[in-house]
This record gives sequence, structure tokens and C-alpha cells, in this order.
Amino acid sequence: MSDLVFSGVQPSAASVHIGNYLGAMKWFVKLQEQFPLMVCVVDFHALTSVDKRGELRSFSQSLAATYLALGLTKDSTILFRQSDIPEVCELTWYLACQFPLGLLERATAFKDKREKQEQVNSGLLFYPILMAADILLYKATKVPVGADQKQHIEMTREVSEKFNYRFGTTFPQPEPLIDKKTGIIPGLDGRKMSKSYDNFIGLFETEKVIESKVKKIVTDSKGVDESKDPETCNVFSLYNHFATEDEISELRESYLKGGLGYGTAKMELFRVIMRELSPIREKYTYYMSRPREVETILEQGAEKARIIALKTMKEVKEAIGI
Ligand code: AMP
Ligand code: TRP
Repeated sequence: MSDLVFSGVQPSAASVHIGNYLGAMKWFVKLQEQFPLMVCVVDFHALTSVDKRGELRSFSQSLAATYLALGLTKDSTILFRQSDIPEVCELTWYLACQFPLGLLERATAFKDKREKQEQVNSGLLFYPILMAADILLYKATKVPVGADQKQHIEMTREVSEKFNYRFGTTFPQPEPLIDKKTGIIPGLDGRKMSKSYDNFIGLFETEKVIESKVKKIVTDSKGVDESKDPETCNVFSLYNHFATEDEISELRESYLKGGLGYGTAKMELFRVIMRELSPIREKYTYYMSRPREVETILEQGAEKARIIALKTMKEVKEAIGI
């Protein structure tokens, strides 16, 4: 079977952050040159956390504009919105009936959320099954994601196996593509960058806000003259992702030698971040001012996705005997 690559990001905020960008989205653009690629705005998933009327629609539009600004093209990639193909919910049910409840309750993302939130909706429990349905509905074989999603892909493999065992081989065994270098991008406080920790730098926040966030990155308290350890420093760790090889080795030397304060290193980080993001930010503004154009691209993507989805659903129902 030839490879199909599938991934998705939740439209759960006004702007994606550098963790999403480096951990997953930047990679999609390279992958579209090598494989057939489907990229999804997973708005059903985001419904587990977005609860204001109208927000989901505007966040989805912003995320689609982000994908286009990053360089996904409608000719190389099927870019679409999850809710345009509601069959994914039907498949979620068929898969849920094959999957043990205990495994869902033990999922790390679910446990984390249950600890943090007072009210946990059942959508959060079903989240991995809906994700498995996303992947299996299109029979994707490779799934590029950040390291935090590894367990969800393992669950997808498991439910695929269970379904195939019971009803005959219908689905592939998708494998995660996780980049070792960008597996987990640290946030301002050194923990994983995340919307829920409020330690993120948004791709489309104002330049002023990005600068002030970079200045807030937590470091140790070593003085200007002291030698510093680049390997344990959050500023340096982010710098690695935006600077050239030469720039990285130059900054590493300055850290080790001493004589460079964290303030200066942060301004250097800010410079390279803006250098990379500026063209993307410009394109994003372009697409955000053309909502009709973005909507048309999503609709065309949905048309192509629907053809694959309906074919799979026909096979699934025949296999189950429904
Ligand atoms: P989400 O916004 O949770 O839908 O995440 C979208 C994608 O970004 C997923 O593939 C995540 O694994 C990835 N991602 C989110 N946060 C980070 C991070 N701090 N480091 C690396 N990847 C991340
Ligand atoms: N759960 C993923 C995240 O939070 C988003 C997602 C939903 C996804 N469906 C997917 C990622 C299918 C890859 C493939 O990041």
C-alpha cells in the first residue's frame, strides 16, 4: 500500500504557538513534497475545550490561514476541516465499541486534564478514538506529530488491530513520525510549551508581545562574566531551532566563555525568531484578509477528503455487517 501522510492541529486558540510550529506544522510543508498529504483543522477535537459561540469558526479560519501562510498548497495537500466530513463521528462509534474503557482512562493527556480541570466532559475521554478515526478514515500510514501525541498514535494502532482482528483486515497500522530534535519544545518557564500552561509564544502575537515574552524566558541567575551552560538554558534551546549552524556555534562559545549576559542572548533569540517568522506573518495577514479564498480552499479539500472517507465507510460497514 502506498503511503499517505495525515496530521491535524486543533483550532483551540486565536494563534498557534512556536511549539506547534516547530514540533509539527513546519514539517508538513516539507512532507508535502515527498508524500500525498492530508492536513486537517480538527474542530471536533477543539470542541472539547472551546465553548464560546463563534470562536470555533474564527479559530478554524485562522488555523487554515496559518497552514497556507506556512506554505501548504492546495495542489500538493488536501487541506480540510474535520467537521465537513461528519462520517468521522460514525467511525468513532464503530471504533469505540472495540476499545477498552480502561485504556482510555489511562491515557496521559486525559489524566492530565482530569487533574487540572474541575469539569471534564466525556469528549475528552473519547478524544483518542476520534483521533484514531481521523487517521483510519483516510487509511493514513504516517502521522507527523509532536512527541506528546505518541501515545495517541499507539492507541490508533491498537484499535486498528482490534478492528481488523474482529472484522477482517480493513485498516493499516499507522506509524508516528516524530522529529527527535523538535519532539518537545520548551515554553518560557522550561516546561513543554502549551496553551494550557500559558508559557507560549504565539506565531502571530504583536512584535512587542513576542519581545516581552522572550525577555521573560526563565534562566539561572549567572552574571554577565560567568561561564554559562548552553545545554540547560531555555534561551539557547529555542535559539537552536531558529539560528544557522554558524550562529549556534558562535552563541555556544560566548556562553561557555562568559562575558555575555542573558539579556543579550534573549535579544539575539528575538532577532532570529522574527527573521524566520516575518514572511509567514505577512502571508498570514494576506490570508486573514481573504476569508472567502480560505473557505474555498477548505471546501475543495473537503470534496477530495469526502471521496476517500465514503469509500472507507462503505468497506467498514460491509466488514461489520451493518
Ligand atoms: P495541538 O495544538 O495540541 O493540537 O498540537 C498540534 C501539534 O503541535 C501536535 O502535533 C503536537 O504534538 C504539537 N505540539 C504542541 N505543543 C508542542 C511542544 N511544546 N513541542 C513540540 N510539539 C508540540
Ligand atoms: N490530538 C492532536 C493534538 O492535540 C490533534 C489531532 C487530532 C491529530 N486528530 C489528529 C493529529 C490526527 C494527528 C492526526 O495535537
